[in-house]
Amino acid sequence: MHRTMRQANGIQIELAGISKAYGEQVVLDGIDLAITDAEFIAVMGRSGSGKSTLLKIVGGLDTPDAGAVIHRGRSLNGMSERERTRFRRSSLGFVFQFFNLIPTLTVRENVCLPLDLNRMAADESKRRSSEVLGELEIDGCADRFPEELSGGEQQRAAIARALVHEPELVIADEPTGNLDLETAGAVLEVLGTSCRQRGTTLIVATHSREIASVADRTLRILGARLEEAAP
Ligand SMILES: Nc1ncnc2c1ncn2[C@@H]1O[C@H](COP(=O)(O)OP(=O)(O)OP(=O)(O)O)[C@@H](O)[C@H]1O
Ligand SMILES: [Mg+2]
Repeated sequence: MHRTMRQANGIQIELAGISKAYGEQVVLDGIDLAITDAEFIAVMGRSGSGKSTLLKIVGGLDTPDAGAVIHRGRSLNGMSERERTRFRRSSLGFVFQFFNLIPTLTVRENVCLPLDLNRMAADESKRRSSEVLGELEIDGCADRFPEELSGGEQQRAAIARALVHEPELVIADEPTGNLDLETAGAVLEVLGTSCRQRGTTLIVATHSREIASVADRTLRILGARLEEAAP
């Protein structure tokens, strides 16, 4: 359904003059950015430069002090809290550095959460979760709890949860920062491939040049400004 709604120019999310400060500290200073459909963007920058702040603002988890986040022509600022919640539930998937799986739920239950929130029927929910768990090669872990999984498997489960409701945008904040290099590479590949196959836009904050090298575009936050960087 999303695809039929896509605009001819393919711009999915636009940031216009986004600024954010914490007290005296200006973290983002007038950021402009247009993100097109199916793009894979890497956001780099040293620790504390504002990557997480930027990603949260793009996903409507945080609000800027000035400027607008425009999703398909609609400003997130102009939405009610309820509309913003609906936007996040239907259109966004998040993957965080520290998995964020709910420890008291099984892997399948964790993965089904976005579908439950969108009130999908149980049998359809099961079918969809099985499909994505299979795609990420962790179907064997479906009935286990997160603590019974390796770090890489947990992050695959978190990716499955971010993809299961077929969002049009996936935001990943240092999704492999907690994994060894080899596992990180494999997890990233599966995230990138899954998004590309679906035509899902992917924004990843990362310190890794390897990730940046497979992205379509690499951006760097430097001095509260966003610049295009060579990968
Ligand atoms: N809620 C907050 N209150 C005050 N300062 C904050 C808050 N959140 C972030 N900051 C500050 O804003 C700056 C940017 O933080 P942010 O988390 O966006 O950086 P980052 O680029 O994601 O860093 P890292 O690579 O370490 O994750 C930091 O200096 C941080 O201390
Ligand atoms: Mg961060």
